[in-house]
Amino acid sequence: MGLKEIHDTLFNPPQFAVWAPGRINLIGEHTDYNGGWVLPAAIDRGFEMYFSFDENIEQFELYSKNLDNQQAFTRTHESLPAANWAKYLQALILVIKEEEGIIVPYFQVSLESSIPPGGGLSSSAAMNAGFLTGIKHFLKLKWSGAKMAQLAQLTEHKIGANVGIMDPYAVIYGEENSFIFLDCQSNSHQVINADFHDYALVLVDTKVTHNHAESGYNDRRKTCERVVELANAFTKAQTLRDLKPDDLVKINDEYPNVSTVEAEFIFEENKRVQEAVMALQSGDFVGLGKLMYASHYGLQNKYRVSCPELDFLVHTATRSGLVLGARMMGGGFGGSTINLIHKDNVSSWIKFATTEYESTYQIYPSTLIARPSKGCEVRETWG
Ligand code: GLA
Repeated sequence: MGLKEIHDTLFNPPQFAVWAPGRINLIGEHTDYNGGWVLPAAIDRGFEMYFSFDENIEQFELYSKNLDNQQAFTRTHESLPAANWAKYLQALILVIKEEEGIIVPYFQVSLESSIPPGGGLSSSAAMNAGFLTGIKHFLKLKWSGAKMAQLAQLTEHKIGANVGIMDPYAVIYGEENSFIFLDCQSNSHQVINADFHDYALVLVDTKVTHNHAESGYNDRRKTCERVVELANAFTKAQTLRDLKPDDLVKINDEYPNVSTVEAEFIFEENKRVQEAVMALQSGDFVGLGKLMYASHYGLQNKYRVSCPELDFLVHTATRSGLVLGARMMGGGFGGSTINLIHKDNVSSWIKFATTEYESTYQIYPSTLIARPSKGCEVRETWG
């Protein structure tokens, strides 16, 4: 049975359907919460959602087709346990009340995702952005995309994942064949059209799962914030974006025990994002590939958020002689690598990568060709 039919049997007839995609990130990792630049895109995998609003509904009611699971909660319900997927909507409803003073009316929503779970394609950002798109549509709100991205980000914070703005922003603003060149200081972006012509982006999923809240993500963030805090003794800065390499020298002199190598990585990664935009605009895929490899080595050796499985896949990409650029994508400690490759080499690369990875880790990695696509939208309405 299709999702719409299931929705019809479980709930009131839907009034509209929403699409909310996952995201990839070409380059610019861990720069978002440091006020830097990122270059993500929404992809053609995502959530299909059906919504029914009705004043007679007395609780939020959700159904996930992937999990074949139904959940419900009221506004006065105590916090759902961490393992309950409905906790995202519960946190979002609270964030909308706290930030916007809006009491979201009860509704029913059913959803189905084509985003491979655990691969670092931001399912949670997609889900939150999808809920926000539905709520905005029903209540005819004037929210900007940046406002919605911020609400989705605060929802993750409420759940304990201290993430940046990149994922929901990309999911909301994504466009066909384009990357979103996002400045995370001003929360504004430029759309970079990127027709890949003879090239493709292939994701290889290590199948090693990570959890932002439990991983070193928050630790890295704190390390960067500590550098900014110390720098404020001699300059004015809100994020690493406001500092220069010379400022790190001063910090090293004064506080030899404080680690600044992470900040150094952020400076370099920000520069690589600018260069990647120029490479994309001039169709320099070889140059773009080099920047991707450099990004990975920085994440591996300086920011230290990679893991053996990701390093193995990037190393395998170099060894294969087929891949122009490869790097870990997203928060790290697992998830996928993103590989830039000529179309003619895609199947040889997939075969090589999966065979090598499986024989080393006894895990079959899944692969996906990622296509930059349209972001969240209301797709159909009824009645
Ligand atoms: C996760 C977070 C993002 C970003 C990346 C690392 O995907 O959700 O905000 O920080 O990690 O670039």
